[in-house]
Amino acid sequence: MSEGQKNARQKLGDKYLLPFQLKSKLDFNTVFKNNNPTYLEIGFGMGDTAVEVAQSYPEHNYIGVEVHPPGVGRALKLSEDSGLSNIRVIEHDAVEVTQHMLPQKSLSGIHIFFPDPWPKKRHHKRRLINGEFVHQLTLLLMDAGYLHIATDWEEYAEEILATLRENHHLENTAADFCERPSYRPTTKFERRGLKLGHQVWDIIFRKC
Ligand SMILES: C[S@@+](CC[C@H](N)C(=O)[O-])C[C@H]1O[C@@H](n2cnc3c(N)ncnc32)[C@H](O)[C@@H]1O
Repeated sequence: MSEGQKNARQKLGDKYLLPFQLKSKLDFNTVFKNNNPTYLEIGFGMGDTAVEVAQSYPEHNYIGVEVHPPGVGRALKLSEDSGLSNIRVIEHDAVEVTQHMLPQKSLSGIHIFFPDPWPKKRHHKRRLINGEFVHQLTLLLMDAGYLHIATDWEEYAEEILATLRENHHLENTAADFCERPSYRPTTKFERRGLKLGHQVWDIIFRKC
């Protein structure tokens, strides 16, 4: 972690970090001091996209979850530099955060942009998106809330599409994959994939 990222965590932790809690759910009204719609971003990497989205939509609240400490430090610094008050960060495993910390039917949308693809077959079981996790996410969505996943790995894209189609509480907003919506900036990981000649697949399902 760079000195800047370390300093950001020390100075800005109280303002932006929400400690992981096992025994009680967050109250977004208390956290953000408003009842604006709240969105979750899982695995925000270095934080650029999460901060850019929060900056573009000040009328929404954003919670970012990430396990990579340098990314968390950078996200805090970017948030402060942009003067944001509508973003909070949880530095913890998203599976546990979604199980223990977030209330049911509380989220207007969930963003998972470029989850680790784990391309080798023997590593597929490490992939974040599976039926059980998707089920947990649907419990957190409000009615008509959306789950948006993007990937540059074709075979994972097909697997994600099939997994979401299997969930009876979700319906696809497109026939299969959709165009990148205007609210999603190009992410750092995506740019790396595009340079390698990868395609990108966006998948958006709504809770029904
Ligand atoms: C391939 S990177 C994509 C980062 C960013 N979304 C982008 O598009 O540039 C995937 C990110 O997900 C994070 N991640 C993976 N598993 C996670 C988990 N269980 N909980 C929280 N973050 C996770 C990783 O630390 C990593 O930063």
